[in-house]
Order: sequence, then C-alpha cells, then structure tokens
Amino acid sequence: MARVLVTGSSDGLGKMAAQLLIEQRHRVVIHARNEERGEQAKESVPGAEAVVVGDLASIRQTRKVAEQVNAFGRFDAVIHNAAVGYRESRRTATEDGLPHVFAVNTLAPYVLTALIERPKRLVYLSSGLHQGGDSSLKDLRWEQRSWHGQQAYSDTKFHDVLLAFAVARLWPDVLSNAVEPGWVATKMGGPSATDDLDQGHRTQVWLAASEDPAAKVTGEYFYHLRRRTPKAATREVALQEKLVEACRQYSGVNLPV
Ligand SMILES: NC(=O)c1ccc[n+]([C@@H]2O[C@H](COP(=O)([O-])OP(=O)(O)OC[C@H]3O[C@@H](n4cnc5c(N)ncnc54)[C@H](OP(=O)(O)O)[C@@H]3O)[C@@H](O)[C@H]2O)c1
Repeated sequence: MARVLVTGSSDGLGKMAAQLLIEQRHRVVIHARNEERGEQAKESVPGAEAVVVGDLASIRQTRKVAEQVNAFGRFDAVIHNAAVGYRESRRTATEDGLPHVFAVNTLAPYVLTALIERPKRLVYLSSGLHQGGDSSLKDLRWEQRSWHGQQAYSDTKFHDVLLAFAVARLWPDVLSNAVEPGWVATKMGGPSATDDLDQGHRTQVWLAASEDPAAKVTGEYFYHLRRRTPKAATREVALQEKLVEACRQYSGVNLPV
C-alpha cells in the first residue's frame, strides 16, 4: 500500500487517478485550489485520507501546499497533475507577475518538487502537444512574444517533460517519469476529445504505485502504459538545466541535489 499525493484532484484526470488509487487500496491525499473546491473534492473522492489546499498560480500558496504535504511525512509518490489548458485568450499575469499557464503548469510542479520531502516516485502530466513546445526556452514570461494560448500551453507541457527528466538525472534514488494521457473529454479536453477517457488516468496511477517492473523505471515518457519517444530536446541536459535555473530564479526556491 502506497501513500500518494495527486495535485489538482478536484476534477478530471486527477480526480479519476485518486479514485482509482483508492480502489486499489492506496492511501491518497488529494489537492484542490481552495477550501470550497476541497470540500467538493472530498465528496467526489470518498476514501481520500485528507485534502490539501492552495492555488498553484501563487508561489506563496504553492509553498503552503508543500508545507501541508510535508506535515504528513514522506510520500511514496506524487502525481503532478494540476494544470490549466490552452484556451487562455490573453496573457493573464499572476500575483507574481508570471503568465498564469506558466505559473500553474511549469513553476508550481517545480516548487512542489523542490519543497516536498523527496518521494520514491514522481509523475508529471505532459501532453502530446509538448512536441510543439518552444525548445529555445526564450521569453518564458511572454513579454516579447505576442500571446498564443496553445503555444503557451505546449511550452509548459514541454517544460514538464524537461523537469521530469532533470529530476530523474539529479535524483537517481527517485523514479521520475512523464505521461501523455491522450486528448480526453475532461473540463480541459472539452467534449470533442477523441481519445479514450478510461485510459487517461491509468498510466499515472501505474507509474505511481505499481510493482510491475515496467513501471519501475525512470526518465521515461509514457502513453497508455507504454513508453513513447518524446521530443528529442527533452533529453538535452543543457535545456533541463536552463529550465531548472529559470524556475529557481522566478520562485526563489532551490531544487536540492
Ligand atoms: N484532458 C486532456 O485532453 C489532456 C491532454 C493532455 C494532457 N492533459 C494533462 O492532464 C492533466 C489533467 O488535465 P485534465 O484534463 O484532468 O484537466 P481538468 O479537468 O481541467 O482538471 C485540472 C485540475 O487541476 C486543477 N487546477 C487547475 N488550476 C489550478 C490551480 N491554479 N490551483 C490548483 N489546482 C488547479 C483543477 O481545479 P478546478 O477543478 O478547481 O479547476 C482540476 O482539479 C493536466 O496536466 C493536463 O495538462 C490533459
């Protein structure tokens, strides 16, 4: 029996992953953006051990989420699932002055990774759209480029793979992998999504908690329980380092090595 944290488990794939982990008799801590969503999440994920609360668009609140998580002691696995989608029609700045999609999808998983006591396994939700992510890592704050919501989202999903692989390299005692769940009909995916929703949450659960040797690997990218080749640039150590350094500067949080 593992203890697993799933971020963004008030809805969508995070909620489904939490429900499946509980069905498999694991201990699950769920996460929601605020108290109200936390109450709703507790109702829709019966059996969760606890809920931690905080808006991942805010560095201050993300730090508080890590504090709440660490109060439980060490986790076996953390699934970095929470994200916002590709439909933001303009650059929305967070209280820290960062683009909202970058703050939630890239910086928050970095800050949580750095501040939560190192678990045995880490899983980062990416997307097939990471293939179109900008591998120059220039203008992460979207101050020079004109806004493009899908590009901004794709960039962050590319960052999530870079982060997963950076952690796999820097923390050899931790299994750290990335997942592409497919285009599925959640709030984010929308009703036209064409992939199988029932497959959308299974790979991250398997990577987080299964004893299957195929799941106990590190530095890999998965789709529907199988390894898939990610964008080649995700393997570039210099890019991984550049992203980690940028996140360190924006957040003021060091990734311990
Ligand atoms: N659905 C797809 O087709 C698809 C495809 C590829 C990759 N993915 C990835 O899969 C993961 C899950 O996506 P999904 O489709 O399940 O999305 P979703 O249905 O929109 O759910 C996203 C979850 O993240 C939470 N969240 C968003 N912003 C937050 C914030 N600032 N602070 C705290 N929590 C926040 C949401 O909370 P609220 O419920 O309060 O909004 C919700 O629980 C994401 O990483 C996404 O990029 C999804």
